[in-house]
Amino acid sequence: MTTFWSTYISVLTIGSLIGLTWLLLGTRKGQSSNTTDQTMGHSFDGIEEYDNPLPKWWFWLFVGTLVFSVGYLILYPGLGNWKGILPGYENGWTQVDEWQKEMDKADAKFGPIFAKYAAMPVEEVAKDPQALKMGSRLFASNCAVCHGSDAKGSYGFPNLTDKDWRWGGEPETIKATIMNGRHGVMPGWSTVIGEQGVADVAAFVLTNLDGRKLPEDAKADPVKGKEIFASNCVACHGPEGKGTPAMGAPNLTHPQAFIYGSSFAQLQQTIRYGRQGQMPAQADIQGNDKVHLLAAYVYSLSQEAAPESASVK
Ligand code: HEC
Ligand code: HEC
Repeated sequence: MTTFWSTYISVLTIGSLIGLTWLLLGTRKGQSSNTTDQTMGHSFDGIEEYDNPLPKWWFWLFVGTLVFSVGYLILYPGLGNWKGILPGYENGWTQVDEWQKEMDKADAKFGPIFAKYAAMPVEEVAKDPQALKMGSRLFASNCAVCHGSDAKGSYGFPNLTDKDWRWGGEPETIKATIMNGRHGVMPGWSTVIGEQGVADVAAFVLTNLDGRKLPEDAKADPVKGKEIFASNCVACHGPEGKGTPAMGAPNLTHPQAFIYGSSFAQLQQTIRYGRQGQMPAQADIQGNDKVHLLAAYVYSLSQEAAPESASVK
């Protein structure tokens, strides 16, 4: 903070405290301490005011808050650049130091446990109930915002409990996904194949790949769409549209695998403008040992034999 702002805040704060003290004592002067039943002589809406001093407890409550704030501002960093003189804190108390202390304490306590699991293969960790419990807590606080507390995903965020994997469901692949993040790049096609082309290929995806019917009023030809698919889409989604995990190109033959919707309108939207799903990398946030537990937890969710107790409630 610059000296100007530091001084500005200090003057404003100390000034207000002095002002409040003056107001409190000033209005008390000259008042008799006896209560009277004489009113001030005005009335509003039938309400009248007695000419009495503040109740004693109220006055002392005010004095108490003033004394507290002076004490607080001496001990803690509340006035501009003043660091406070709380005993036991050489450089003054700060929130950041407090947080760091808590984190160091937690690391000292849980670090060895994390390290023990990190040395085991992900599949093994996925069978350990204590590890899964820790994994489910990490999931609830770091992943549930996007993937849902039950890990079943939602629009734009994949379900992690099924067998449909965009990037692959092997234990080490899941770990790599969480460590390094993923960026799915589906290009937009409207300028390449035109609006009619978008409708045709969407019709093909809808009818041929998952066997559903086109809306009655749809002006689209799935047969033409099939040709467009063969020349533009198979490079990423594979000859049968079953996806390519190396690119994160999803299986288009499985309605449940779609995260952007599989209605005719939603398919056209996806194909027209493309999609850019991003899974944020966790290596720098969680570190290897926690990601290892998370990978084991996520892996366990799609295994039938996953222990009951491990699910995030
Ligand atoms: C360069 C590789 C690439 C090509 C070519 C490509 N796609 Fe994709 N497609 C992807 C990727 C990667 C995703 C996943 C995007 C994401 O996760 O955000 C995707 C997603 C999709 C989705 C959405 C699936 C969902 O989860 O909702 C549809 C539908 C789709 N593609 C259809 C097509 C069609 C039709 C074509 C051809 C016109 C095509 N794609 C060409 C890579 C490609
Ligand atoms: C900001 C939202 C967000 C957060 C937070 C997030 N994810 Fe993701 N995650 C995504 C998106 C979006 C995708 C899909 C990427 C794509 O389009 O390919 C994804 C994909 C994944 C996949 C790959 C799924 C597949 O089908 O291959 C895994 C595994 C995963 N996330 C696990 C996690 C874990 C574990 C955490 C918590 C540490 C987490 N995610 C936190 C958004 C998020």
